Amino acid sequence: MREVWAGGDAYEAYIGRRSRLVAGPFLDWLDAGPGRRWLDVGCGTGALTAAIVARAAPAGVVGVDPSEQHVAWAAANVAGARFVVGDADHLPSDPVDVVVSGLALNFMPDAGAAVRAMRDRGSTVAAYVWDYAGGMELLRRFWDAAIALDPDAAELDEATRFPICRPDRLRTIWRDAGLVDGATAPIDVPTVFGDFDDYWTPFLGGQGPAPGYVAGLDDRRRDRLRDRLRLDLPAANDGAIHLTARAWAVRGTME
Ligand SMILES: C[S@@+](CC[C@H](N)C(=O)[O-])C[C@H]1O[C@@H](n2cnc3c(N)ncnc32)[C@H](O)[C@@H]1O
Repeated sequence: MREVWAGGDAYEAYIGRRSRLVAGPFLDWLDAGPGRRWLDVGCGTGALTAAIVARAAPAGVVGVDPSEQHVAWAAANVAGARFVVGDADHLPSDPVDVVVSGLALNFMPDAGAAVRAMRDRGSTVAAYVWDYAGGMELLRRFWDAAIALDPDAAELDEATRFPICRPDRLRTIWRDAGLVDGATAPIDVPTVFGDFDDYWTPFLGGQGPAPGYVAGLDDRRRDRLRDRLRLDLPAANDGAIHLTARAWAVRGTME
């Protein structure tokens, strides 16, 4: 299944605004130091790239992504970095020290090959992916409700499709790529929705697996899913919905 990664605005409304929260704590954990040259693989709309510019005092930052629309969005909205269209198999040739990837590794056709390609470019390689099976609650709750109504949805659930999004699997991929000093860590960020519509509306934008699933439902099934989620989600007295999103981070270096 190929994902739709086309519109920067729709992606931002859906996950981009959440992924920005993870980028900062990830960079703090990575602690790569100032004056490094960075490459952000699968940069999308530039959530991680922007955080590198803002927090890591880099000597240079390049973001690469196969989505022309995401690259155009990033170039228009993120200052201090260069953005190019490409993928993990076709990385730009700029000299780099630190190669990172945010929430993208599981969408690459061969994550092991992608990490080896990243390793060939920089001495430090690090990434993070959502904990689809557990702590990424906004998606976990979506798929649990979708599967309760439609058992066939299970095969589209990112927890099923992306088994690499677990710390043991990430450590194995890093080790198999010859990266040492490997470590993983959870990064938890709050995801607060002002009301149910704030949670639900981004799922109507067609970006990524869950909104892609919603786009394929007829009106009746889409309304059933919406109503099920409205019942299931824990709303506070003011209607706000407080969830948590967990990402697993992994890092390693070449000897
Ligand atoms: C969930 S988005 C993450 C974007 C951004 N890094 C962030 O944290 O918000 C996943 C991104 O992976 C990109 N992608 C998909 N396949 C890829 C590949 N083979 N190589 C590099 N990037 C890829 C998509 O175009 C999309 O922008």
